[in-house]
Amino acid sequence: MSFLKEIQRRRTFGIISHPDAGKTTLTEKLLLFGGAIQEAGAVKSNKIKKGATSDFMEIERQRGISVATSVLAFEYNGIKVNILDTPGHKDFAEDTFRTLTAVDSVIVVIDVAKGVEEQTEKLVEVCRMRKIPMIVFINKLDREGKDAFDLLDEVEQKLGLSVTPLSFPIGMGYDFKGIYNIWEKNINLFSGDSRKNIEETIHVSDLSSDDLDTLIGEQSANELRDNLELVEGVYPEFNKDDYLNGNLQPVFFGSALNNFGVRELLDCFVEIAPKPRPKESEERLIKPDENKFTGFVFKIHANMDPNHRDRLAFIKIVSGTFERNKPYLHVRNNKKMKFSSPNAFFAEKKQIVDISYPGDIVGLHDTGNFKIGDTLTEGEQINYRGIPSFSPEHFRYINNADPLKSKQLYKGIDQLMDEGVAQLFTLELNGRKIIGTVGALQYEVIQYRLEHEYGAKCTYENLNVFKACWVDPEEVLTDEYKEFVRVKQRFLAKDKQNQLVFLADSAFSLQMTQQKYPSIKFHFTSEFN
Ligand code: G4P
Repeated sequence: MSFLKEIQRRRTFGIISHPDAGKTTLTEKLLLFGGAIQEAGAVKSNKIKKGATSDFMEIERQRGISVATSVLAFEYNGIKVNILDTPGHKDFAEDTFRTLTAVDSVIVVIDVAKGVEEQTEKLVEVCRMRKIPMIVFINKLDREGKDAFDLLDEVEQKLGLSVTPLSFPIGMGYDFKGIYNIWEKNINLFSGDSRKNIEETIHVSDLSSDDLDTLIGEQSANELRDNLELVEGVYPEFNKDDYLNGNLQPVFFGSALNNFGVRELLDCFVEIAPKPRPKESEERLIKPDENKFTGFVFKIHANMDPNHRDRLAFIKIVSGTFERNKPYLHVRNNKKMKFSSPNAFFAEKKQIVDISYPGDIVGLHDTGNFKIGDTLTEGEQINYRGIPSFSPEHFRYINNADPLKSKQLYKGIDQLMDEGVAQLFTLELNGRKIIGTVGALQYEVIQYRLEHEYGAKCTYENLNVFKACWVDPEEVLTDEYKEFVRVKQRFLAKDKQNQLVFLADSAFSLQMTQQKYPSIKFHFTSEFN
């Protein structure tokens, strides 16, 4: 197959949702359609079970599973589908944000009873800002939930989206009869039997015909006619360009658990979802069909075996082909590297591959050369951007609890930060190290991993920080800037990239500082120019 055809047949996406909305279940059903797995239950949930915050075995189990499910690939109707896993737990939200830099589109799963939940709001906001095309899947229609129109309103209002339903439910919960597929103009009747109902698609060419009444009963038929009329009147007609530009989000209804409405979603997805898209680098826009390979690291996973400290760096291929044993430039280190065993992912297996195409993810064994955001090329100086750090929510001093192991401790901290587990800040005043995280769970993960993988012990000390604010560097030092640095020295730190950060201890003090030093610009993410 030609290079261009290979690009055109790839769809790389992520599924995002609030925990429990049905992401794992939907992923599994998609894999079943792709023939990538044979039975339900094969995809392990990577979520951390409730109440397991201090259960380290649970954290390790979760890490093991998340290697296996980092990328799930399958073929469907000649299309190569790559699903990138995104952790739903809020403490790992930053992982999800980074993975979103490697997807070309997303599917948002919403629970019909719970509606739009907190984590969905945060993740969709990131996708909206980046104009990532989104399809919404409203799940669990076999249960009682909110009215479909109310839900569509909620999605528009809370998520700031502009939706158009491409399918519509007939009844719900106990009365759930099936789904009218607006996209394909047919009805899929729900029998409650997940093995049977896949085939039961009935084409409906004329909604006003009596056949519809016979099929689903007069009352349901009239309700459906009314609802579809309302849909047509209220929502814009589906337009692929609007969807691809992030301006319109099609909505599907279904029940992942019952494998209902999933085939319709998948059929539409492979038809409309974007093929690998061009990506902006600091230097220029890179197109997938360029001959020369470029790619970037969006995730690093430590080896589960503490005796081998090698890691797996996940690279998204942006342009050209990635070939085994070919030398590539590691741009940040300015070093040529060859990879003899790049891994590709197929369902839950990984295997060594000779060649991979744009949209694909390869896993490279790494002994500590890679950081999140690193770029590989055939020689061109290109730096992909768009993997910013957000201000952490929690801050703690990290102390060395075993003076004989300080080298191990610093090496461990360094590598865990490269993996993106948390952020490190070093106080300007005394060099003390502060770990900033999105959730409290990360502190336990770090402590556990430092001990088990690096043989180092640490303790934490609370620190009152409201927000980390990155300070715009000054080329010419103004008096105001000098005064700011002098007066606020106690609150200033450097991040791992040596950027100056102001650790404001309260919203009030941040506001006062901004007022007092109006010429200094503060940013709430690490990437601002
Ligand atoms: P997540 O990855 O988004 O966190 O959600 P997951 O797929 O694990 O689903 C969360 C729970 O919702 C699971 O039940 C799952 O079986 C259920 N579920 C998913 N889709 C549907 C659906 O369409 N209808 C109904 N009724 N339930 C659905 P659980 O009891 O928490 O887990 P399990 O014991 O079944 O694994």
